[in-house]
Amino acid sequence: MTKLSRILAAAVVAALPASAMAAGGGESHIEDVAFSFEGPMGAYDQAQLQRGLQVFNEVCAACHGMKFVSFRSLGEESGPGYDEEQVKALAALYEVADEEGEPGDLRPAEPTDKFPENTSMNAPDLSLMAKARAGFHGPAGLGINQLLNGTGGPEYIYSLLTGYTGEEKTQAGTILYGNHTFPGGWISMTPPLSDDLIEYADGTPATAEQMAEDVSAFLMWAAEPKMHDRKAAGIRNFLYIALLAVLLYLTNKKLWASVKKKKAA
Ligand code: HEC
Repeated sequence: MTKLSRILAAAVVAALPASAMAAGGGESHIEDVAFSFEGPMGAYDQAQLQRGLQVFNEVCAACHGMKFVSFRSLGEESGPGYDEEQVKALAALYEVADEEGEPGDLRPAEPTDKFPENTSMNAPDLSLMAKARAGFHGPAGLGINQLLNGTGGPEYIYSLLTGYTGEEKTQAGTILYGNHTFPGGWISMTPPLSDDLIEYADGTPATAEQMAEDVSAFLMWAAEPKMHDRKAAGIRNFLYIALLAVLLYLTNKKLWASVKKKKAA
């Protein structure tokens, strides 16, 4: 094999589906989901983000907060893309502390507020969860899979939500639920999704898998709203460097052309 073909072969091995690698490696089972935002040109799917927000609002928010995400950001074009009135209405679904009232007073949230914190059930905040968890653990191959598909945070969340085994046990007074994905295999979160739990505003059938995928995509956006801009800048820089390399090569050739000709003679 030439050196180049060896490098290419290594790249192909590294790009094999992560699920195949995960199955051999760790205890936790990660499904590979083909999200729209994967790859160097990937972008969020606005309709999916809107559905994911609906799942968060109607299901997850009962126990989880999202205290680093502002309602205003729901209007971002590269995000859920709601208009001003819709953002106002979505904010008003939540209540936040009223600084002007008595301590403990609440008022409806406004676009400038952030989603409230929620500590009632001891559930972790979901603002950054998609980046705090990884589905594709390195080092695996050359890391090309991580480069192309991300580190698998949304895949982890999807797999967690769809990975319940149906078993239950009580430990020190807490009910634990068997889960293929959660490290250790037992989680204290009740299985939050079931088919047709909600009715999607856009009419998409709300299967448990569909809701899991949508809310995972939404949480990825929440954790990294500027992913598309970052990728676009990366591609611009790459093209710029590639062009520069070609120009340098041609300049080099031209500069040395007369010397090389003399040598050959
Ligand atoms: C009834 C309350 C409840 C609901 C509803 C709920 N969760 Fe949870 N969730 C929890 C609790 C409690 C934990 C902590 C579990 C543990 O550490 O054993 C948790 C943990 C998590 C974790 C972190 C797992 C980890 O790796 O540490 C994620 C991700 C998560 N939930 C996502 C969701 C999503 C998405 C939804 C909505 C579809 C949701 N949860 C709905 C209670 C809930």
